[in-house]
Amino acid sequence: MIRVGVIGYGYWGPNIVRNLNGLEFARPHMVCDKSSKALARVRKAHPGIQTVSDPAEILCSPEIDAVAVVTPVWTHYELAKRALESGKHVFIEKPFTSNSAQAKELIDLAARKNLTIMVDHTFLFTGSVRKIRELTESGALGELYYYDSLRVNLGLFQHDVSVIWDLAPHDLSIMDYIIKGEPEAVVATGEKHLNGVEDVAYMTIYFPRNVIAHINVNWLSPVKIRTTLIGGQKKMLVWNDLVADEKIRVYDKGVQIASGEGIRDALVSYRTGDMWAPQLEQLEALHVELGYFADCIMNNKTPINDGHAGLRVVQMLEAAETSIQKKGELIRL
Ligand SMILES: NC(=O)c1ccc[n+]([C@@H]2O[C@H](COP(=O)([O-])OP(=O)(O)OC[C@H]3O[C@@H](n4cnc5c(N)ncnc54)[C@H](O)[C@@H]3O)[C@@H](O)[C@H]2O)c1
Repeated sequence: MIRVGVIGYGYWGPNIVRNLNGLEFARPHMVCDKSSKALARVRKAHPGIQTVSDPAEILCSPEIDAVAVVTPVWTHYELAKRALESGKHVFIEKPFTSNSAQAKELIDLAARKNLTIMVDHTFLFTGSVRKIRELTESGALGELYYYDSLRVNLGLFQHDVSVIWDLAPHDLSIMDYIIKGEPEAVVATGEKHLNGVEDVAYMTIYFPRNVIAHINVNWLSPVKIRTTLIGGQKKMLVWNDLVADEKIRVYDKGVQIASGEGIRDALVSYRTGDMWAPQLEQLEALHVELGYFADCIMNNKTPINDGHAGLRVVQMLEAAETSIQKKGELIRL
């Protein structure tokens, strides 16, 4: 049984504690938050769990095997470092750290101490992303052309990070999982309107073999949209994460060019076949992910969302930030 100490019980922390509660091989042992109101909420929802206001109590407890860091991004590095130094495995929220130097240091520290780092790239454990990965891996979509995502809503404004650092990690971690090859370059643009950080941003990522990805993230949208298009040579799919049924629709559509002598002679033919909606696993992603965390610790496995995966996402975010500062300059990775 992996006994977990959870630090941070704001918006996301309750989901971590609730899902840890339902696991066979892990359980929440202690919850820490510096806010007494947050701790009162823990005691109401989970009367059996010990609550503390100082992270040191979790870090020093011999009864705790792993720490979940569910606090704002700027606190991740310090809390994770202290947890690793105390010999605890770490489950840490996305984005892993505020910069790549911090991520590298934590990866080295965990390796030296033979401890596991898992970055909460929750979407990798959804039925939708698992199906998309299956479709790309099996070659059902054919050679990949593009990944195009719209992830917009009104708020929730974060105070310490921009909309790119808040929302883009979801798409970047999904791309890291389904697109073969390391990203080559990033172009990003964005603007600040309200509290000194970008609240609207557009990010383009160039991958090998002409694969291009685009993410539109926005905290100032009147409606919530979570729609991703993925185009391949054989098939294309639309993933609408907000609908209950048929979240993924796969279209047997495509374009073929039979070339003549020059561009003017090219014969373009369009294929429009059937659409189908694959059956998706219905389990809650965090439940699957936290069970996998316990499994990785107990069986000494390297998680798909380990510190290196977290670092790759942070490197793309850093490149996007630099590009935004330079008004959309291409930044090579
Ligand atoms: N994986 C996901 O889909 C997902 C979704 C939402 C948020 N997140 C991530 O979760 C993290 C937390 O986000 P949130 O929206 O819950 O933030 P939040 O501000 O709502 O909650 C953070 C909590 O941490 C507490 N806290 C902060 N510093 C602390 C410290 N040093 N010691 C003890 N308690 C401390 C605060 O009192 C607060 O209750 C962020 O990294 C965010 O990116 C991930």
